[in-house]
Amino acid sequence: MPQPGRDGRYGETFFSPAAAGEGERIDFGALAYDDITMARLRALGAGPGWRCLDVGAGTGTVSRRLLEEAGVAGVLAVDRDVRFLAERALPGLDVLEADITGADFAPGRFQLVHARFVLMHLPEHERLITALAGLVAPGGVLVLSDAVDLTSDRTPDTPYTSAMRAMWRGLRSTIGTDVSWVPSYPQLLRGAGLEPVAAEIHVPPLRPGSPISRFWADTWERSRRAMVATGLVDDAGVDAAVRYLGSDACAALSAGMLTVWGWKPDQQALTDKG
Ligand SMILES: C[S@@+](CC[C@H](N)C(=O)[O-])C[C@H]1O[C@@H](n2cnc3c(N)ncnc32)[C@H](O)[C@@H]1O
Repeated sequence: MPQPGRDGRYGETFFSPAAAGEGERIDFGALAYDDITMARLRALGAGPGWRCLDVGAGTGTVSRRLLEEAGVAGVLAVDRDVRFLAERALPGLDVLEADITGADFAPGRFQLVHARFVLMHLPEHERLITALAGLVAPGGVLVLSDAVDLTSDRTPDTPYTSAMRAMWRGLRSTIGTDVSWVPSYPQLLRGAGLEPVAAEIHVPPLRPGSPISRFWADTWERSRRAMVATGLVDDAGVDAAVRYLGSDACAALSAGMLTVWGWKPDQQALTDKG
C-alpha cells in the first residue's frame, strides 16, 4: 500500500481547500457528474423518510440536491474541511467536520451512505469500505463512485493521454491516490456483506470548455509538480495538454465515473419471510 510521504494526504499539499479556486474545481466535477449521481440515487429509492450520509461531501452539491430535489428527511454531510459546506445552510443539512479514516468515526446508521471521489484518494480504502458498510441501516444502501482510468497500452499517444498517465502515476506516488483497484468495488462491497451489488460507468464527453474539460485542466495545474516528477511529461507537456483539451483537435476519452451500490440485508424482513 503506498504510504503518503512528504506531500501528506489528499487536501494537504495537493488539492488544499484553502487554495484559491479549489471549490470551483470541485464544482466543475459536480457539474459533470451530479445529474448522473442524482438519477442513480433516486432510482435506488432516495426520497422522503431517508436519512443520508454524504462522506467527503466537498462543496455539498449532492447533499443539497438530495434535500431539495429528492426530498430526503435529512443529510449529514461530512468532510475533513467543511468550509464549503458551511457557506450555505439548508434545513435538513447537518455538517460534521471529521476525518473518516479515524477509528472513532461512527456518526450513526443511515438508509443511504454515499461517497463520491473520496475513497480513491485514501490508501486504506478496503478497511473504509467495511467501515462505511457498517454505517448502513438494515435495508439501506451504500453507494460509492470513483474514477476509472480508461487509457490502455494501445491508446494513441496525445498530449491528453500523456498528461493523464503522468497525473495518475504522480498522485499515486505522492499522496497515495490509486484508481487501479476501483474496478474491484463490486467484489469489495460483496465482501463487506452487502447483497445484491451492481455497478455502472458514466463517461462525460470531453468538449472544449465543458465542465469536465475544465475540471481536468484545473486538476493538472494543481498536480503539475507530481506529474512532472514522474518524468512522463515536462512543463511544456502539461501546457500542451491544457491547450489540447481546450481545442477542437481534442479527441480523447475522459476517465469515467464508476458507481457501485450494495444493499445491507434487512434481518427483520428475512426473519418475517422465514
Ligand atoms: C474530490 S473531492 C469530492 C467532493 C464531493 N464528494 C464531490 O464528488 O463533489 C474529495 C473530498 O473528500 C474530502 N476528504 C478527503 N479525505 C478525507 C477524509 N479522510 N475524511 C473526510 N473527508 C475527506 C476532501 O476534503 C474533499 O472535500
